[in-house]
Amino acid sequence: MLLEVKSLAKTYRIPGQPAVEVLKDVSFEVASGERVAIVGRSGAGKSTLLNLLAGLDRPTAGSVTLDGRKVTGKVRAAKIGFVFQSYNLLPELDVLENVTLPAMSFRAPASMTAARKRAAELLEAVGLSARAHHLPAELSGGEQQRVALARALVCGPELILADEPTGNLDSLTGADIMRLLVELSKGTDLALVMVTHSAEAAAACSRVLRLEAGRIAAS
Ligand SMILES: Nc1ncnc2c1ncn2[C@@H]1O[C@H](COP(=O)(O)OP(=O)(O)OP(=O)(O)O)[C@@H](O)[C@H]1O
Ligand SMILES: [Mg+2]
Repeated sequence: MLLEVKSLAKTYRIPGQPAVEVLKDVSFEVASGERVAIVGRSGAGKSTLLNLLAGLDRPTAGSVTLDGRKVTGKVRAAKIGFVFQSYNLLPELDVLENVTLPAMSFRAPASMTAARKRAAELLEAVGLSARAHHLPAELSGGEQQRVALARALVCGPELILADEPTGNLDSLTGADIMRLLVELSKGTDLALVMVTHSAEAAAACSRVLRLEAGRIAAS
């Protein structure tokens, strides 16, 4: 099994405040090539869950494994592509540099040429070749989201974790982004776990998990 999530719990504790039990008991599995949508109301813990899946935060209890291994920084860099709720592009780097950046953090310099070539191919795939040397601020929201998709794919991940890829876009652009994500993952072993409020986006997934009161609600 590619991704195994077992009895995951997350409680935020802020001194002097009551503890916030966001996730109580969340278990599920994702196989290679599978597309899974995570839905739930605002504040249900969707971003919290994705951060735990990516190993960006530590659970209060439970475990997450990818290919049977705990998700460390090294595993994440090699196997996971992350699309954040806000695009998190670096404003002072141009589009091509933003897409190439994840490959620079752990690849040997010898493969930099290959990484740059792959970044250029992905920019082509998301329709932004002409914007390779623009800064993020010169792009629309939808275009920045497409750059973020290309960036998430540049290391050839096994799993894409995408937070609300349609969130702050108009619905037409949101649907385009979704089609693109699905298109790019189709016919590959790439697995997709995507947080979304969009019924259309969820319908493009093979499974929908609803987060409710810290658990996956029966569907
Ligand atoms: N670092 C933190 N410290 C304390 N509480 C937090 C922290 N991060 C998130 N929370 C709380 O955890 C709950 C879940 O937040 P989360 O961001 O996971 O929700 P979400 O489902 O992604 O919502 P949205 O759809 O609005 O993005 C919220 O009540 C939030 O206030
Ligand atoms: Mg969120």
